[in-house]
Amino acid sequence: MNTNSSPKTSMLFLPLLLTSFLVSPAIAQNATDTFDWSSLKPSANLSWVPCNSIFQCARLEVPLDYASPSLGTAAIAVVRLPANVSTSSSAYRGPILFNPGGPGGTGVEALVAFAPRFPALFGSQYDFVSFDPRGVGVSTPPVSLFGSPVERALWDAGSFPTSLNASSDSTALVRSWGLAQVQGEVAAERDKTGILKYVTTDNVARDMLVITQQMGFPKLKYYGLSYGSVLGATFAALFPDKVDRMILDADLSVQASSADAALQTFFTSCAAAGPSTCPFANNKKNTPEQLAARLTALTNAVRKQPVPVATPAGYGLVDYSLLRSAIYDSISSPFDTFPTLAKALADLEKGDGAALFAIEAEPLFQCGNNDPDFSGAGVAIGCGDAAEVHDSLEELGTFYRKAAKVSQFAEFLVGMRRVTCSGWKVYRQDRFKGPLPVVKTSFPILFVSNTADPITSKAGCVNIVADKVLGNSPGPPPHRALKTISKFPGSVLLTQDCPGHTSISATSRCTLGAFAAYMLNGTLPHPGTVCPVDQELFGTE
Ligand SMILES: *[C@@H]1O[C@H](CO)[C@@H](O)[C@H](O)[C@H]1NC(C)=O
Ligand SMILES: *[C@@H]1O[C@H](CO)[C@@H](O)[C@H](O)[C@H]1NC(C)=O
Ligand SMILES: *[C@@H]1O[C@H](CO)[C@@H](O)[C@H](O)[C@H]1NC(C)=O
Ligand SMILES: *[C@@H]1O[C@H](CO)[C@@H](O)[C@H](O)[C@H]1NC(C)=O
Ligand SMILES: *[C@@H]1O[C@H](CO)[C@@H](O)[C@H](O)[C@H]1NC(C)=O
Repeated sequence: MNTNSSPKTSMLFLPLLLTSFLVSPAIAQNATDTFDWSSLKPSANLSWVPCNSIFQCARLEVPLDYASPSLGTAAIAVVRLPANVSTSSSAYRGPILFNPGGPGGTGVEALVAFAPRFPALFGSQYDFVSFDPRGVGVSTPPVSLFGSPVERALWDAGSFPTSLNASSDSTALVRSWGLAQVQGEVAAERDKTGILKYVTTDNVARDMLVITQQMGFPKLKYYGLSYGSVLGATFAALFPDKVDRMILDADLSVQASSADAALQTFFTSCAAAGPSTCPFANNKKNTPEQLAARLTALTNAVRKQPVPVATPAGYGLVDYSLLRSAIYDSISSPFDTFPTLAKALADLEKGDGAALFAIEAEPLFQCGNNDPDFSGAGVAIGCGDAAEVHDSLEELGTFYRKAAKVSQFAEFLVGMRRVTCSGWKVYRQDRFKGPLPVVKTSFPILFVSNTADPITSKAGCVNIVADKVLGNSPGPPPHRALKTISKFPGSVLLTQDCPGHTSISATSRCTLGAFAAYMLNGTLPHPGTVCPVDQELFGTE
């Protein structure tokens, strides 16, 4: 969900695919769903047709409103990578449903891009299944806040500042809050199909049960990344006796200071690696503190005087917001991005902003595409869920100042969802409002969390959704006692020892082994298990 302009930095979440998406950029790169979904007639039974080479697609008709089935239907786009054993064979283990995050992320694109990795994760005896949650992507009816991509681009270009610190006074917050009121009004006014209030997470959970049961299995096997954890936890709360296996990756209970901890790993690993593999280290004796001080100095310098960039690939200013966004985006997938960031920062220190600019650059907007704009689902789901959020400008200011004492990334963390939702208008009365009850699920849940995950720590981002759904009191991060796991007695937390968002932001044979043992044999890791990763942020000299 974009609360502000570019799909890249605007995200509450990671800048992936067409919409906000809380997964590793590696997955999004190869998103290649080319199937013509409109050629498929929605049906109440999953009726699969071949699509996207090795996949099968179906459009599943579900009630818009489970409480009033006569109100109409939604058609959920479902995709599967079929098991390589016959469904009648004893080796066949049924479907594992996957949600890649968001809210607003498309599971169809993610599965098509990510599927080759699933058999390696869990084995080939499963069907790997994902779907565009109602309102998202190619599921219908879509959520559309803006009439066209042009209209969306114009709104984005003139709208939300990327960082609440973009201006040194408080205008960024004031402006963001005001625009959120506008966006909320526009969404309500344009909701002609009435879809908005039905796209909530509880309904997506109900859809997951229908998909699973339509495939002949009474209970859900599920792997959820990021916001997918909120979806999974909601499912478990609504249908505790329908949990067969559930892995919730990027537990939402980590501290906000994890974003700062993730940045700290940049300084420590860069200093340890030295100039030969970390270009931001300018000699072998750099300390992490020196690198941190240089980055602060660089940030202040750019704030005073932005660096102009014009290359064949694009043009613009490396200003405070762009620099901060590049850093912030990078700490979500540090294994993929730290070396690039280090080189770009070293160049910027020398006055060359091209590499830094390229990190955040996007293709120039081109007119000519007159397809409807369907990018509004993230905000509709994130804001319409659980408890209503209607902060006044004054309350937001207080919240922001408190959060800024905890994390230097409060400028991103707080602003987005919390600000955006302050203007939201459309709620369904009987939605699942949280808090999560304490429930015993029919099988224990496996929670996975990185030691320094910058996204789940966002005070204004997933945590707001999480807080709303999970029933934690909003407030500056250290005070939020997110106790998701304690709501599910018997569940176990696996910790992966690395920075980054979700366990898939790094490679860990230990984590993968635990996943496979859990999914196949139902073996839970010992409580307190910490998995090392098999990768380094920078190579050593
Ligand atoms: C994406 O596709 C390219 C070219 O086919 C391939 O080299 C790369 O490994 C793929 N990336 C992922 C994350 O699958
Ligand atoms: C769906 O399948 C069930 C049995 O599997 C059958 O009873 C029902 O008629 C089917 N519905 C449709 C719409 O095909
Ligand atoms: C299924 O795939 C696995 C590898 O993932 C392979 O070892 C196995 O032989 C395949 N089975 C069949 C029946 O093709
Ligand atoms: C952003 O603004 C907050 C609140 O005014 C301030 O405490 C913080 O130091 C600023 N952060 C940066 C990186 O300039
Ligand atoms: C599942 O259990 C069997 C029997 O104990 C074992 O051989 C196998 O390695 C286990 N599979 C996984 C993925 O742990």
